Amino acid sequence: MPSKVSCLYLLTVVCWASALWYLSISRPTSTYVGHMSVPIRKAAKPPKNITFTNIHTRPLNPHAFEFVINEPKKCESAAPFLVILISTTHKEFDARQSIRETWGDESTFGDIRILTIFLLGRNTDPVLNQMVEQESQIFHDIVVENFIDSYHNLTLKTMMGMRWVATFCPKAQYVMKTDSDIFVNMDNLIYKLLKPTTKPRRRYFTGYVINGGPIRDMRSKWYMSRDLYPDSKYPPFCSGTGYVFSADVAELIFQTSLHTRLLHLEDVYVGLCLRKLGIHPYQNSGFNHWKMAYSLCRYRRVITVHQISPEEMHRIWNDMSSKKHLRC
Ligand SMILES: *[C@@H]1O[C@H](CO)[C@@H](O)[C@H](O)[C@H]1NC(C)=O
Ligand SMILES: *[C@@H]1O[C@H](CO)[C@@H](O)[C@H](O)[C@H]1NC(C)=O
Repeated sequence: MPSKVSCLYLLTVVCWASALWYLSISRPTSTYVGHMSVPIRKAAKPPKNITFTNIHTRPLNPHAFEFVINEPKKCESAAPFLVILISTTHKEFDARQSIRETWGDESTFGDIRILTIFLLGRNTDPVLNQMVEQESQIFHDIVVENFIDSYHNLTLKTMMGMRWVATFCPKAQYVMKTDSDIFVNMDNLIYKLLKPTTKPRRRYFTGYVINGGPIRDMRSKWYMSRDLYPDSKYPPFCSGTGYVFSADVAELIFQTSLHTRLLHLEDVYVGLCLRKLGIHPYQNSGFNHWKMAYSLCRYRRVITVHQISPEEMHRIWNDMSSKKHLRC
């Protein structure tokens, strides 16, 4: 009798073990793990015959991170016209708040639906993570994945933004990626550049296009080693201070990134993905990637201005809003 029981027991164990073994080897290598079981749409099937030399090989860059703070329902009620992804760091509470209260205010344009999302990784300081968590519960505009938040990991932050749009907001029309110290002239962006009444563009990408090459000086913020990038030229890329694209490009870039070796310069990296995709970025001189002293008429002509403090953000916004009737 006891031998019958242990025989059954043994059989069960063997069955389980083989089932587990089978599952572990039969999992397709191109799915990334830990995604709260929300696979990206069409992950197994690339949209067109572009770029992927061998989709069945293990991704070079699997982006196997989990969302630790997410807003999966933000797009559910209606597809936004524009999603603004803002790369930010934990301590920039003031910068985020000043954007919410000025150009990032989602209610400014009435019918034209705007979503503002702040992108973050995980901080090594648990207190900062907790503070961001609380901020997120108030404003519901923060998305965090569990990679370490650092300057060197900026590319992961951008790819998280692409993944978020592709997964949770694929019906948006346009996306802007920018930083927390950028002033955005939303009127120009929406009415002069994106023009809500015109036919939505596809495979569209624009910003301040840079045609440059790697900086080999190790003291530079933009240093690039020959090991990581041997070529002497970069493909054309848009300055990371602000670029805008049709939302279909988010998934294309994210999928391409899975098979493209990671570079820490996020704007250069996005440029590499665009070249693989055969998408050429349009130059637009309205995207300023330098600081520019404030003057009403000058700021009325631009789309972005760099290096704006939270205090300046409020001052500029208030001045421009209160002088809408003035001519230049
Ligand atoms: C994609 O590639 C396959 C084989 O490489 C080819 O048969 C097919 O026509 C291609 N499809 C498109 C849309 O180019
Ligand atoms: C980037 O994030 C990954 C994943 O969390 C981490 O292992 C790595 O150390 C980070 N890199 C830097 C330079 O912080």
